[in-house]
Amino acid sequence: MRNIFRLLCALLLLLAGCNDTRRATRTIEDFNFDWSFMLGDKSLYADPEYNDKDWRQLHLPHDWSIEGEFNRANPTTPVGGALPAGIGWYRKTFVSPNLEGKVVHIEFDGIFKNSTLYVNGEEVGFRPHGYSSLSYDITRYLKPEGEENVIAVRCDNREQPNSRWYTGCGIYRNVRLVTTSEVYVGYSGTYITIPEISDEQATVKVAVTLNNDSDTSQTITLRNIIFNKDGNKEAEASQEHTIDAEQNAELSMTLELSSPELWDINDPYLYTMKSIVEIDGNIVDEYDTRFGVRSIAFKADSGFWLNGRALKIKGVCMHHDLGALGSAVHRRALERQLDILESYGVNAIRTAHNPPAPELLDLCDERGILVLDEALDMWRIAKSKYDYARLFDAWHERDLADFVKRDRNHPSIIMWSVGNEIPEQWDTKEHSSLDKIPAELRNTLMSYASEGNAESEHNANVLLTRHVVGTIKKYDATRPVTAGCNETRPENNLLRSGALDIVGFNYHAEDYDSVRVWYPEMPFIGTETTSALGSRGFYLHPSSEVHVIPARWDLRYNTPHHQCSAYDNSHAPWATLHEAAWIAVRDREFCAGAFVWTGFDYLGEPTPYTWPSRSSYFGIVDLCGFPKDCYYMYRSEWTEEPTLHLFPHWNWEEGQTIDLWAYYNNADEVELLVNGRSMGRSSKTEERLHALWEGVEYEAGEVTAIAYKDGEEVMRHTRRTAGGPYEIRLTADRKVLKADGYDLSYITVECYDKDGNAVPTAMNQLYFDVEGAGELMGVDNGNACGMESLKGSKMKLFNGKALAIIRTLRDVQGDIRLKVRGDGVKDATLVLASK
Ligand code: GAL
Repeated sequence: MRNIFRLLCALLLLLAGCNDTRRATRTIEDFNFDWSFMLGDKSLYADPEYNDKDWRQLHLPHDWSIEGEFNRANPTTPVGGALPAGIGWYRKTFVSPNLEGKVVHIEFDGIFKNSTLYVNGEEVGFRPHGYSSLSYDITRYLKPEGEENVIAVRCDNREQPNSRWYTGCGIYRNVRLVTTSEVYVGYSGTYITIPEISDEQATVKVAVTLNNDSDTSQTITLRNIIFNKDGNKEAEASQEHTIDAEQNAELSMTLELSSPELWDINDPYLYTMKSIVEIDGNIVDEYDTRFGVRSIAFKADSGFWLNGRALKIKGVCMHHDLGALGSAVHRRALERQLDILESYGVNAIRTAHNPPAPELLDLCDERGILVLDEALDMWRIAKSKYDYARLFDAWHERDLADFVKRDRNHPSIIMWSVGNEIPEQWDTKEHSSLDKIPAELRNTLMSYASEGNAESEHNANVLLTRHVVGTIKKYDATRPVTAGCNETRPENNLLRSGALDIVGFNYHAEDYDSVRVWYPEMPFIGTETTSALGSRGFYLHPSSEVHVIPARWDLRYNTPHHQCSAYDNSHAPWATLHEAAWIAVRDREFCAGAFVWTGFDYLGEPTPYTWPSRSSYFGIVDLCGFPKDCYYMYRSEWTEEPTLHLFPHWNWEEGQTIDLWAYYNNADEVELLVNGRSMGRSSKTEERLHALWEGVEYEAGEVTAIAYKDGEEVMRHTRRTAGGPYEIRLTADRKVLKADGYDLSYITVECYDKDGNAVPTAMNQLYFDVEGAGELMGVDNGNACGMESLKGSKMKLFNGKALAIIRTLRDVQGDIRLKVRGDGVKDATLVLASK
């Protein structure tokens, strides 16, 4: 018995030992903590000797822009969120590990923007584009083992305006320090494709880029092993190869996976490909790539197909900001966004109009959400003075390559978009001529011209489209490429290049049928739809009056209230109401689906207004993530979740006439009761997706909607006239958090009268205070023209609600106590636990 015990111990030790050597092969260190930050610019900030002890200590991801005040004078302008920009520096000190035979990379998922990296005072690299992910080899800049290194990053976002939405500033995505041996799998170094899938078998191809940074040639064995989601081995292949000193090699192999589990929206099954690099029987690197087995197809007559099944894409466009957190990425904030989107039936996201944080794609893989991954908002022709058009010629090939290589293993991505409303879709003398293009790019473009003298073969815009599409396809030819174009007519459309696979078209649902005329053989998707406007809890009567605001795209609208009506009765002039936009897609089998502008409100682009508005009105939910009424339209049409939503609220002036709407599903009709008296039953129709009672005379009390199925009541929703604000209630989305410095709790603050009725009109001032094992990360109320800082400690209620976001402290366990005081309402306290 004792011997067996000894043997077991020895085995365990051996295994632990193995693990240790394995761990020694590649270490990925979370490099987000313990940075110093300074707003301003001095060249000596790069100097390792510089004393930064007065700088602010923080942890990344960080966005300094969101910490500022909304101000009309800020150079970002209301379109960019009316928040400050400028130049900021980050510094971090760390001790060198043993560097013998090691290579050290620092990986940044995104820095906004024009970032320069210095290590120990030496410039390592510069990257202008704020949405590209990057990796720098810093090995040769590091001090010997045990000595201190100083890393400094300068971010320059001075030149404004450079965006049509809020960008944020700083190291706003995650940072890692990756240490490997000198022979290792490169950054974004694997590419997995699945050319054949059947019930019995999937053919999985994997290409691995291996770097040999050592000064001798190395003979390696590369083993690729597929593990299923339970960690069991499913297939393995290996290959030997000699890589010359300081050279790279790409090794490809094919594995057969039997009885593959498919990745699908309801069951997003993920496999892991483990790439193991060995030299003389020793493991020198291990690299994991997650992937999914799924087939996609877009068909001209029947839209999108996933795994052999037609599936309507119910998508939304999303910008990258996270409301009060600004652009600083938080996995938990993304998770919550997806929870909310999925709760109203969203099955797809368009990453408007730039590569997203990698965590978003990971989450979409895990949850079975489809992604249209979009590269750019412009190419060579600018939309704002300092935007990417200035960088395009020098950087587009690099940025596009890095974008596709980073993202191409995600099963959630079902198509690429080369851009949104790219101005090159229209010809002008200046831009269609090749003469104006710098020589190097012109030569590249000429290589895309076919023989013959057709005018299009000399048209710079046509050739540029082929080149951009070609660049994407060079790195991934397994997914179709589309673009969000403005017009269906071929002469005003990137489609005339012949390079796109899917007709992508923004707005103008009235032209959808012309797609069948112009491009009968091509699949079609509404890359962007809707752009209806609304403020949570704000209503303009009568609901049948449609507000098309502003009157023209280049004008601004003005009202004293700076709000938009939340009956589905306001939209931008190029756009459509929510219901009409969805009906146009629903009723056309050939339309693969749509991406509604937008899933959430976002900072910047306050169309139809300008200052003091500073965030959008387009969202189906507001900037806090609180539903606007239209949320329930989608929920009732896009999901089977039992839904009955009666609106507006029931706090009006005596004698006012009010239109009442109800969104519902799983029922035949809805009855409205006002103080118990029936106002009749109403149903939705093919063309109207809500029940409706117009001109109901208001009287204080209560209104109730009752949904009936086959004559039986199935659901009811009551709204009561509320008295004055009396108390606030705090509801946390999560009460027990991880003490890791990342985890978040979102706390909804709602106002009630003394009888326990929600007060939908309350605007009381609130003050927030957090003590204990957490910190207040943001406050908001969803008011697109609110002037209070989203990073402050006070916020008014907006139409009865506000939000606080709390983050845990790293390694500090205990209670987190949120106290909210309010003018004219009773205080409230909430205790969370951080573990
Ligand atoms: C679209 C554009 C989006 C956004 C939207 C607002 O034309 O692609 O980025 O500006 O309009 O309606």
